[in-house]
Amino acid sequence: MSANSTPIHGNYHGYYAKRPAVKDPRLSLLPPELFRGASVLDVGCNEGWVTCEIAQSWGARRVLGVDIDDTLTRLAWKRKRTVWSTQEPTAAVDEKLRPGYFPASFEHSFGPLPIPSARPADKHLFPHNVSFRTADWTNTAIAQDAAGYDVVIAFSLTKWIHLNGGDDALLRFFRRVYDVLTPGGSLVLEPQAWETYAKAKRMDNRLRETAKCLKLRPNDFESLLQEIGFGAAQHLGTTGEGGRWIL
Ligand SMILES: C[S@@+](CC[C@H](N)C(=O)[O-])C[C@H]1O[C@@H](n2cnc3c(N)ncnc32)[C@H](O)[C@@H]1O
Repeated sequence: MSANSTPIHGNYHGYYAKRPAVKDPRLSLLPPELFRGASVLDVGCNEGWVTCEIAQSWGARRVLGVDIDDTLTRLAWKRKRTVWSTQEPTAAVDEKLRPGYFPASFEHSFGPLPIPSARPADKHLFPHNVSFRTADWTNTAIAQDAAGYDVVIAFSLTKWIHLNGGDDALLRFFRRVYDVLTPGGSLVLEPQAWETYAKAKRMDNRLRETAKCLKLRPNDFESLLQEIGFGAAQHLGTTGEGGRWIL
């Protein structure tokens, strides 16, 4: 997908440049133990900022970021090198490591630090515990799905799946999440509000046409998820627009 094409999947380039934060405020709403030792899938990872934070600072064992836009996936790999290059150097990366220890100007002036090969003891620590791949995850199974995930993240994603593929695609997405979660696993969902669909669909005729046929609304997602088999939702609060749920 070209960097200049209309971002009909919400595949905005420079998305995080507008939200420069070392810590994503949405992650701070979640119980810290959620990610500890977990295998995590971040669907719609964009340039990988959230994905890298989960891998670096929240104790996840393995984190995979997937995005439909190949240019963004490549920028996510670059983000991993940047995060590695600016973190505090320690012999063993542990609880005390400090992200953003070196200024960004170091990388600009001297280039990113090389990522060393993983020693067996480090393979579940950042930067070795995070990877990225390009896929339309609503419609394509990927090899990593077979092992399952303890946590699936879907931040600011459902509107784009809904407007591109209609109610069917959204249902397919939720069912796929249910299928790949390990028993007791969690979907962390940040659905966009229905009011935000109007602006999004204006960017493309096909989205406008699909929108005319939508029967599901974000307010229906909670009951829909329970019909699929998810447990009761916990509403964890809001930061900026939208609501955060964990299921
Ligand atoms: C608005 S951005 C949100 C980025 C990130 N999740 C966040 O909230 O910080 C939505 C992302 O989802 C991706 N996306 C949309 N549909 C997708 C699909 N079917 N499979 C994988 N990624 C998708 C887009 O390319 C875009 O990067």
